[in-house]
Amino acid sequence: MYWKKCPASTFIRRRRRSISSSTRASAWSWWDHVRPASKDPIVGVTEAFLADPNPKRINLGVGAYRDDEGKPVVLQCVRDAEAKIAGSEFLESISAAISSKLVEESLKLVYGKDSNVITDGRFAGIQALSGTGACRLFAEFQKRFYPESQIYLPDPTWSNHHNIWRDAHVPRRTFRYYNPSTKGLNFAALMDDVKNAPDSSFFLLHPCAHNPTGVDPTKEQWREISHQFKVKNHFPFFDMAYQGFASGDFDIDAKAIRIFLEDGHLIGCAQSFAKNMGLYGHRVGCLSVLCSDHKQAVGVKSQLQQIARAMYGSPPVHGLLLVSTILSDSDIKSLWLREMKAMANRIKSNRSALRDSLENLGSPLNWEHITNQVGMFCFSGLTPDQVNQLARKFHIYMTQDGRISMAGVTSGNVSYLANAINQVTNYSQENLNLCNTSF
Ligand SMILES: Cc1ncc(COP(=O)(O)O)c(C=O)c1O
Repeated sequence: MYWKKCPASTFIRRRRRSISSSTRASAWSWWDHVRPASKDPIVGVTEAFLADPNPKRINLGVGAYRDDEGKPVVLQCVRDAEAKIAGSEFLESISAAISSKLVEESLKLVYGKDSNVITDGRFAGIQALSGTGACRLFAEFQKRFYPESQIYLPDPTWSNHHNIWRDAHVPRRTFRYYNPSTKGLNFAALMDDVKNAPDSSFFLLHPCAHNPTGVDPTKEQWREISHQFKVKNHFPFFDMAYQGFASGDFDIDAKAIRIFLEDGHLIGCAQSFAKNMGLYGHRVGCLSVLCSDHKQAVGVKSQLQQIARAMYGSPPVHGLLLVSTILSDSDIKSLWLREMKAMANRIKSNRSALRDSLENLGSPLNWEHITNQVGMFCFSGLTPDQVNQLARKFHIYMTQDGRISMAGVTSGNVSYLANAINQVTNYSQENLNLCNTSF
């Protein structure tokens, strides 16, 4: 690191020398020590896909919804909300009333529309810059009020969780989550890690449609996790980026959080409307913290507002108006719930279609996990070598960990995809057999 090798005094001396020995101020270069940051794995996949001119190319990297032609979708509920807010005076910052409406309606999605915790004044909630911004705000808040704390993240998790807590200077630990041999949950290991973490630790949990594995605990397992959190006094922070995508039903997808609520936990929750409203570009989300009483909630909210103010001022208004209109107009909201169900159903049928196609091709491998896993992603079990072969030979792109974004599968490409997966896995299987028989 340049800064480490070059203490500030040397740096300033060199700079003075450089400026005085040069007639041109521009001779001093401020940014020589800045090296390119490592590429985000998902951005890299999209770039490779876009650079490939082959008409058969498939992008299975992006975690956003696509229609059966592989195109981004603008939901009808969003178009209706656009029409309703057309002409709104949203050039000035938004009134506190509209912002609180968004928070209140977001909380109803998570805790249930009739939940009395929403009206009893114990929530500190603010609008956030989508799910990423909500997580980052919480990470900053955690650092400010528990400076010695760390965060436990599932292994694996959305890669940006690591970046977010790293940049907030909160040390990261992981807890075991996924079992590659069953392609399901490693529940015993998860519980061990929860038990063995120091008392009163912060844990990040995906309440539904876990990214990248598509593996969620069952209701019973959530009950046990919640119980153990109580015993250890851990703090649950839920990152809810895909509500609706696991089951097609918002209440079912919120079951984990509601179990924790019933058990009397205080809860943090990040919500995103990027995927379930298809509003990726608008960056609308919500961060909420359930507190012990109203006084605490007032303190927490004011601190969250202060952190946000120093980071980005206030969030954009247009997306806020769209989301609060969808959530508070009963006709538009029921349209949204129907459209959400249709998106979830299309993904489910893609799972069945991919699994059926692989089985019909006579693949000797077990593909049950494709339909057992839920939500946007399938953690296929493909190795990095097989992923590379898919890109090189078949123009099919996904992240190196073998994560398939199921929304990228269409009725037009599923046979081609299954055939390609069958070929790269059979080839690896044959190689394995050859290796085994040569002994
Ligand atoms: C688990 C998880 N959390 C949060 C996010 C952030 O979503 P956004 O900031 O786009 O709302 C994502 C996006 O991929 C995610 O997968």
